[in-house]
Amino acid sequence: MSVPLLDLVAQYREIKEDVLAAMMEVIERQTFIMGPEVGRLESEIARLSHTKHGIACASGTDALLLPLKALDLRPGDEVITTPFTFFATAGTVHNAGGTPVFVDIDPATMNIEPEAVEAAITPRTRAIIIVHLFGQMAPMEKIMAIAARHGLPVIEDGAQSIGACRKVDGEWRMSGEMGTAGTLSFFPTKNLGAWGDGGLIVTQDDELAERLRRLRLHGGARQYLHDEVGTNSRLDTLQAAVLLAKLPYLDRWNQARKRNAARYTAAFTGHPAVCPPATDPANDHIFHQYTVRVPQRDELQGHLKAHGIGHSVYYPLALHLQPCFAHLGYRRGSLPAAEAAMDSVISLPIYPELTAQQQDQVIAAVKSFYA
Ligand SMILES: Cc1ncc(COP(=O)(O)O)c(C=O)c1O
Repeated sequence: MSVPLLDLVAQYREIKEDVLAAMMEVIERQTFIMGPEVGRLESEIARLSHTKHGIACASGTDALLLPLKALDLRPGDEVITTPFTFFATAGTVHNAGGTPVFVDIDPATMNIEPEAVEAAITPRTRAIIIVHLFGQMAPMEKIMAIAARHGLPVIEDGAQSIGACRKVDGEWRMSGEMGTAGTLSFFPTKNLGAWGDGGLIVTQDDELAERLRRLRLHGGARQYLHDEVGTNSRLDTLQAAVLLAKLPYLDRWNQARKRNAARYTAAFTGHPAVCPPATDPANDHIFHQYTVRVPQRDELQGHLKAHGIGHSVYYPLALHLQPCFAHLGYRRGSLPAAEAAMDSVISLPIYPELTAQQQDQVIAAVKSFYA
């Protein structure tokens, strides 16, 4: 029996009645654009994130792009970020008119290295984007201290970290709570996924929230009056309804992911080849991905495929080496920890509905390759 990397059909079976009922309410009402579910979702996610505001938008990519647009970047303005992330983290910097500056990662957690962030700050630096990769938060207290010293805003790319938190000075701080803005993606494969595209920005800042609400609606707070040029980046009411219906399950799903991760880690700890992911002890990691590091990674992929085991490599080419950023002048060797990660990582099935039996199959298949 094969084991998929993710089984959204299994999730659908569990939530079908709730989600279809929520969608039918919208359909009966025919309020597809900015219906009441959008505002309700914004409030619920802001509450979950311990923030004052939630601003829903069309995707996780737009959730990054809109706060970057709000920075009014000029050509040559720099935004420091990690190269070991999904493309949108840096693509949006370019699309907002800035230049991404990539700095290396912590080899253990694969999150951005705070010391490297500070070393890369120049007079052109306008912001820092950190990513809470694979479901565990970057060291926000260190990043925020650096940002405060240099007067820089911080965007938390929380596309993979909804519900993740970190203990800072004895208190649990949520993904998106401490930064200038925090972003979420509701891409269907995320821990909280829509039935299509969706995103959301959280912030504590009243002025920024108002600006973001304008930017997602063509720059106008009132219809047909445009204070500035924005875009259409609304979240569909239907997607908000799906997400509201799924939200009560999120904590249970995150707990199941954590249990699955603990099981894998127990099985791989001490293995001569497979290096399980490191969790920073300050973090409550919600395991969007379970990513191990291995030798002969590409050969292992072939072996897993032959055994019907779903897997994926996040990410095979770090962003500083992408052809579209060649003009920035990075080379192989520029950011060694990110390059070592891209050459050795492989993500295994971790979704909440994964059974113990399926997990044993994954573990056995990985171990048999190195036997
Ligand atoms: C870290 C990260 N940032 C941004 C995004 C972009 O989100 P979306 O696909 O919803 O545009 C994603 C996921 O797709 C992501 O994983």
